[in-house]
Amino acid sequence: MEKQELTSPLLKKIWSLMPEGIRQTVASEPVIPAIAARAKKIAASRPDFVRSDQGQVVGIFPEKEIFYGPSSGLEELRDLVARFWTYAYKLKGKPGLSPFGLDKRHVAIVSGATEGLSIIMHLIAFRRNVGLMSLYWSNYKGIIRNAGGNPLVVELFDRDYRIDFKKLERTIKEKEISSLLINFPNNPSGDVLTEQEMSDLADLAERRDVIIVSDEVYNFIRYQGEPQSMLAFAPERTVVVSSASKEYLIPGARVGYVISADETFAGSWMPKMIRSFSSSPNVLGQRVLADILRKEVGDFEEGRPPRILTEVKKELRERCRLMLSVLKDKGFVLAGRDPDFPSGAISILARLPAGIEADDRAFVEKAIELEKFSAIPGSVFGAPGCLRFGYAGMPRGDIERLSGHLQVVLDHFRKNS
Ligand SMILES: Cc1ncc(COP(=O)(O)O)c(C=O)c1O
Repeated sequence: MEKQELTSPLLKKIWSLMPEGIRQTVASEPVIPAIAARAKKIAASRPDFVRSDQGQVVGIFPEKEIFYGPSSGLEELRDLVARFWTYAYKLKGKPGLSPFGLDKRHVAIVSGATEGLSIIMHLIAFRRNVGLMSLYWSNYKGIIRNAGGNPLVVELFDRDYRIDFKKLERTIKEKEISSLLINFPNNPSGDVLTEQEMSDLADLAERRDVIIVSDEVYNFIRYQGEPQSMLAFAPERTVVVSSASKEYLIPGARVGYVISADETFAGSWMPKMIRSFSSSPNVLGQRVLADILRKEVGDFEEGRPPRILTEVKKELRERCRLMLSVLKDKGFVLAGRDPDFPSGAISILARLPAGIEADDRAFVEKAIELEKFSAIPGSVFGAPGCLRFGYAGMPRGDIERLSGHLQVVLDHFRKNS
């Protein structure tokens, strides 16, 4: 194995948590990508240069060819993501980052946030306890377990939705938690952290030498306050995972990104891992996202808010408002941090109305059995007694129709109680 220079707290910590086999993956220099990268560069300026390094069939149906992309993603897209992130989360000049914020060396494109999370967990979770901040996306446990890790649910908020950082620190110490997986704006509740809380969490991570994996897939969709990234608070301990799935409505394109202030992590370790996970992310999806981000970054550069996300957010806010009024009208109460309106993301977590003697799973079962509506039982996110209504996939007409359908299911339970 080549010697790795562990030049930052992030690299040191991740290296210390990695299984031996993965150390070999990130320390090796794969031969084929290096040859292909050099050959591509030469071929661009030397038409007579002959390439026999490519693992694909070319020249029979040239218009149908889709080339393998680089494991780290298309260079232009990495650059666009870095610029978008720098503008959107005001990363220029933040301590621990370069004076210019992020650039393409800090971004690795992955096949959706799901692959990004899987790779990171393979690096840090093997035979370790990963603190899963409740509430959590239901897929996290499987992702951590697949990597040989142990998900430990940690209640972040007390009953008043305050964070007791002393208690959290004790839990981290006593349970030997080496990394925390957080998600704000949160699926299912839409909750966000305050700046002070993010800063306190950053201090705690430094004190306990803990890695924060920050899932920021809904980051720009905030209905209150400015969008923030954990990268601005704990650049030396944070790995951000995000995605075009939610904000740009293209989950089927399978394009996500892993962002880190550490160039070795994002620019070298990640692509080596991606290479053995999925070879490279979907080139067609990356092109779609690059077309979108070119416009969004252009808007930022001209001092305007990004037009597509602004439009998306405006419509989502309206759907959220409508959904909330339907739910409140039927006796549901918001179960998130903000009692009046979710702070962000694309779903509402609501407590079943008083007097409904059914658990959340039974309620959803019945709604489906009666062919009225679907929702996700809150218990799969660590919120029993609640339902998660995702309004992003529901045009306003559907949300209005939900009202009568909810009534039928509520009547069923009231009649049978
Ligand atoms: C919090 C959270 N993270 C990640 C994902 C998955 O994102 P992707 O489609 O980019 O894999 C989801 C999807 O529901 C999610 O809610």
